[in-house]
Amino acid sequence: MQPASLTIAIVGGTGFVGNRVADLLRAAGHRVVILSRRTGTDLASPDPAALARALEGCAALVLCAGINREIGSQTYDAVHIRGTAAAVAAAKETGVQHVVMLSFLRARPDGPSHYHRSKWAAEVIVRESGIPFTVLKAGVIYGRGDHMLDHLSRALRTFPVFGLVGMRERPVRPVAVDDVARLLAAAATGEPRLRDRTIEVLGPDQLPLGDAVRCVGEVIGRRPTYVRLPVAAHLLLASAFESLMRVPLVSIAQVRILAEGVVEAAPAAEPPPADLAPATPFSAVSIRAGLPEPAGFGRRDLRWCAAR
Ligand SMILES: NC(=O)c1ccc[n+]([C@@H]2O[C@H](COP(=O)([O-])OP(=O)(O)OC[C@H]3O[C@@H](n4cnc5c(N)ncnc54)[C@H](OP(=O)(O)O)[C@@H]3O)[C@@H](O)[C@H]2O)c1
Repeated sequence: MQPASLTIAIVGGTGFVGNRVADLLRAAGHRVVILSRRTGTDLASPDPAALARALEGCAALVLCAGINREIGSQTYDAVHIRGTAAAVAAAKETGVQHVVMLSFLRARPDGPSHYHRSKWAAEVIVRESGIPFTVLKAGVIYGRGDHMLDHLSRALRTFPVFGLVGMRERPVRPVAVDDVARLLAAAATGEPRLRDRTIEVLGPDQLPLGDAVRCVGEVIGRRPTYVRLPVAAHLLLASAFESLMRVPLVSIAQVRILAEGVVEAAPAAEPPPADLAPATPFSAVSIRAGLPEPAGFGRRDLRWCAAR
């Protein structure tokens, strides 16, 4: 039975995944309240009264906000931990009945970057909130508007040599954004099998990261020379990209993520119910559907050019 029309708040509803969740919820007849810096809510300096006003009358709160590199006041502690705590406190105050959080598959207390550790801390805040919750721990998500296909395809179009992360091949299970958004929307609208659960969200196909990159290259007709570079070299490059680029080609946290593979939750999490499990194959069709307009990297991607 279709649930009645609900009002659902999405923190991070302007982002790649949050925007897709908002579209799905609206298409199903629900009202969506979008919160992000672009709509006046900065989790790094939250206003508790404004958050509570925004959540008034909401049945569910979906947390899709996050960063993958730190700039100024936008730190992992501020956005992921204190920001989540503020949003969850406002949800409690206003009687929101369900909190749904999109976390990362391998977010854990002893993770290899503060991204991992801060996302874990946010998971704990959600699980211990006293409000019914769903935590979805997703691996690498791809689709139109993403970071993965966007950055990969633009890098493959720009550089004749492409550096793969680490001297050993690591596996990934890319998951299509629509499959993730469907799970988030189901949780937010009260799917009972997702209530009070921490669930891993992975695509149906497992492949070496290098093959995933080559698949994207094949689809856009690029065959650069692929070289393997040690993780330490990638960390140096990522540090340079973080200082130079508006959105880094790859961030330090992303190198740490790719260096250990992205195929199973850590710590272990439950699989989704079979009928809600991601099923979109990582194929030429799904890659093509998620590609941005053809473009390479240029001056507009540099931080100081973008700021003008
Ligand atoms: N994409 C993936 O492969 C993947 C996989 C697993 C988990 N995740 C997690 O899922 C979440 C969303 O990922 P995404 O790929 O959709 O990221 P995204 O496209 O970068 O979107 C991030 C969202 O967070 C908002 N945001 C960032 N800083 C904020 C702040 N200080 N206050 C309020 N809102 C803020 C952004 O909006 P404004 O810029 O308007 O503030 C945007 O709506 C992230 O937490 C990410 O760690 C992503």
